[in-house]
Amino acid sequence: MNRSSHTTTVRVHASARKRAQAIAPDLIRWRRHLHQNPELSFEEHETQRFVTETLSEIPGIEIAHPAGTSVVGTLPGSRNGRILAIRADMDALPITEECEEPFRSKRKGAMHACGHDGHTAMLLATARIFAELRSEWPGEIRFLFQHAEELFPGGGEEMVKAGVMDGVDAVIGTHLWAHIPSGQIAVTYGPMMAAPDVFHIRIKGLGGHAARPQSSVDSIVLASEIVQHLQLLVSRETDPLDSLVVSVTQFHAGTTHNVLPGEAELTGTVRTFNAALRERIPERMEAILAGLCSAHRAHYELRYEKGYRPVVNHADVNRIVESAARGLYGAGAIDFNQRNMGGEDFSAFQEKAPGSFFYVGAGRPGAEMVYPHHHPRFAIDESALVNGVEMFLTAGLHLLEEGF
Ligand code: NI
Repeated sequence: MNRSSHTTTVRVHASARKRAQAIAPDLIRWRRHLHQNPELSFEEHETQRFVTETLSEIPGIEIAHPAGTSVVGTLPGSRNGRILAIRADMDALPITEECEEPFRSKRKGAMHACGHDGHTAMLLATARIFAELRSEWPGEIRFLFQHAEELFPGGGEEMVKAGVMDGVDAVIGTHLWAHIPSGQIAVTYGPMMAAPDVFHIRIKGLGGHAARPQSSVDSIVLASEIVQHLQLLVSRETDPLDSLVVSVTQFHAGTTHNVLPGEAELTGTVRTFNAALRERIPERMEAILAGLCSAHRAHYELRYEKGYRPVVNHADVNRIVESAARGLYGAGAIDFNQRNMGGEDFSAFQEKAPGSFFYVGAGRPGAEMVYPHHHPRFAIDESALVNGVEMFLTAGLHLLEEGF
């Protein structure tokens, strides 16, 4: 890059940052509006309308509704260049909010308990600022407002099938992250979030009188044994350096105190990064079920559902995200240790273009108690919202100007 274009870049980046700070009141207003009016996955009708209306105030943006309740805004820059996609998810969770803020959810049984309200507001602000700076950057930006991240099969896959990623050169996305304080950015190289698969097991024994176990096949004792054995997949069958979670999260059996139930049902989740390990788990689970059920004269059914692919970041796009974070907040603000076994359908977009998913710290600095994501008292530090916008703008400008 020559000196004059470098000077231009510095000026544009400074202007983008100033605009991100200036948009804070709108950003917070949008986020609070969405927070008060949460909608569950695949039902984001009002949210879709709100996003569409807010985007329609931006000159030059083309708006489409390619799949479900999603919204895509397409903004061309000043000249030909690369195509960048920026994604935000919009759905809420089936939780009744217990926070007491005046902008708490107005709907019983629905709450933005994961921060997607913030993601949507941040992407609206980002779109507006990119439009204001339109003469300064090349290429095209697609703002992907995704429905249904929380509910498999997810809105991401539907949008990809509808072609929103066709021709895209790079994709970025973020999650507000309450486990690190606002002001910090988490950047993860390689695998970042796991493939979340789901299993349902039905054990079929033989019901009978609780006082005559010899005449029954007790599904509770057998299912308990199965729960224990499933943990051996983690501790005895998997390389300790490979990540695996097997969690049984539902155990249903029985109706009263003196009847041995003939059936028991177990449901749970398996989380992996490694594709070969992911393939092996249902086979090994089946072997455990077959062995234990045969030993105890019972039968079983196993239903195993593959969830989202793991989120795996592309090193080159990630480097640009990392350098954006370093430039904005300093090297000390970057956290490289937030890899986790959660699932995210941002991976659907990463299948189509090199992508980077990063966390924007949203924990209240100095807060004693941090309620986790998906908790009825989950809350974000709203100052994080501007940081998310700054990250989208800075990383986005670099990706459009320089590629990777
Ligand atoms: Ni989330």
